Amino acid sequence: MLALLSFIFLLIIFIYIKSPRLSKNEPPLVPYTVPVIGHTFSYFLNTENFIKKCLKEYGEPFNIIIFGKVVTVVAQKYIPEMIKAHENFSSIEVFRELIPLHLILGHDPFVNIDFHAKTTREQISGKLTLHFDRIQKDVLYYLDKQIGECNKPKSVKEIWDFTNHVTAKSIANICMGEEASQHDDVVHAFAVLTDDMNKFFFLPPIFSFIHPKLHEYVISLPFLFGFNPIAKHQKVLINRMKPIVENRIQQKKILGDSYEPSNDLLEFYMSQSDFDSSSVDYNCLSDLIAFMIFAGIGTTGRSLANLLFDYVGNPQCWDELYEEASTINKECNGKLTLNDANKMIKLESFIRESFRHTGDMIIAPRAVTTDHFTFSNGFTVPKGRHVLDFSEDSLFSESVYGPDSKSFKPFQFVSKNVSASKIDKTYLVFGGGRHACPGRFYAVLVMKLFLYHVLLKYHVRTESGNIPKKSMMGPFSVPSKESLIFERRKE
Ligand SMILES: *[C@@H]1O[C@H](CO)[C@@H](O)[C@H](O)[C@H]1NC(C)=O
Ligand SMILES: *[C@@H]1O[C@H](CO)[C@@H](O)[C@H](O)[C@H]1NC(C)=O
Repeated sequence: MLALLSFIFLLIIFIYIKSPRLSKNEPPLVPYTVPVIGHTFSYFLNTENFIKKCLKEYGEPFNIIIFGKVVTVVAQKYIPEMIKAHENFSSIEVFRELIPLHLILGHDPFVNIDFHAKTTREQISGKLTLHFDRIQKDVLYYLDKQIGECNKPKSVKEIWDFTNHVTAKSIANICMGEEASQHDDVVHAFAVLTDDMNKFFFLPPIFSFIHPKLHEYVISLPFLFGFNPIAKHQKVLINRMKPIVENRIQQKKILGDSYEPSNDLLEFYMSQSDFDSSSVDYNCLSDLIAFMIFAGIGTTGRSLANLLFDYVGNPQCWDELYEEASTINKECNGKLTLNDANKMIKLESFIRESFRHTGDMIIAPRAVTTDHFTFSNGFTVPKGRHVLDFSEDSLFSESVYGPDSKSFKPFQFVSKNVSASKIDKTYLVFGGGRHACPGRFYAVLVMKLFLYHVLLKYHVRTESGNIPKKSMMGPFSVPSKESLIFERRKE
């Protein structure tokens, strides 16, 4: 059986062996030995070492072959060029292949990407003052629920799952409103939907060896045959949103102009001109929200987990961060406002440094969408080519962050007076240019509120006393699996 499979596998490889045809003026192709497989293993097993080695030998940009495809890699020098040329590139095309949400959700979120970005920018990030009290209450809710008074030390396992739930409560409130977010099943659906989806997406794209499009179809097969791990979550969402939507439609009819709209995305979606209140498309509403969950929860949750581990791993900062938090807490009599939150400049700097150390090697891969793209040094890549941004090189740029750019310098941004959400040429954690993550202002605020409240109430440490380490999945980092011990801070 195994022999037969191996034979078929070799046959397939044999049939598809073709040396990649590169057009004129392409960046240099890094030599390889096995056709089709090319650099796949070196790339996936240790992205950082492999790319750094290539950079040293070939400079940038250069081409490699992964999963049967030629891809181009750029680093510190050419990433800004790519970001600037936003008409020539699109990240959406890459996501479509890697994470084919359009095959899983009934409504293709990628065609609506501008709508989603605008919604996030205007309805969430643009209304933080309005949302502030709710966000703070929701962050505290989950902290109290899971850790609470903590008179005896409490061990928390699966920190990333824990922080996803912290974020989920708040995003559920913003998306579906106060009432729906009271329900634990809603918060749980928000917290685990992304995770359940990711189990399929983060398979290495082995089928791309055969045909680039094959991977996309293979990973979405289970969904098409009725096994859809997110269907049960969407059922929960629809079940809880139905009475709310119906009630609002009713109230609008009765109250007319004196109807008071709620401040949540559900209300916003209902106010769109294509919303039909006589036959509500609940699948569409739940797909819109599922995309917000997908974009917001895992990412914010992971940043929160990283932040907590960075705090635990840097005991030299504990006193300073606590001093700042407790001074502000006294100043505002325990009633923190957005303005107070923004005064914590050490916390802000710590968060920025935590982001800088996220550890993703690639952040926003892009595909060329125009006929070609020519880098300023003359190298040209054709339409459809994926270009990977080796962002690690920028985030640890020695010319910007000093010769010890790799070390964790928690308060280095205090004197520079730069917020954690401010993007620049080397700080690429939110992508860059006009397509930079529109949810970053929200994410940074949640992180501030979370660590502020943790600082005021608890001591946190690892069970083993070791500094927690992230692990890598290909080019992406995953927070440590270590448990953390929370202890009540004595006044
Ligand atoms: C970007 O695309 C446009 C339109 O196809 C093209 O004219 C231009 O040369 C491209 N830019 C670069 C730097 O290649
Ligand atoms: C820091 O920057 C903000 C706006 O970016 C500005 O309002 C503030 O005065 C600055 N503070 C210092 C100490 O430079």
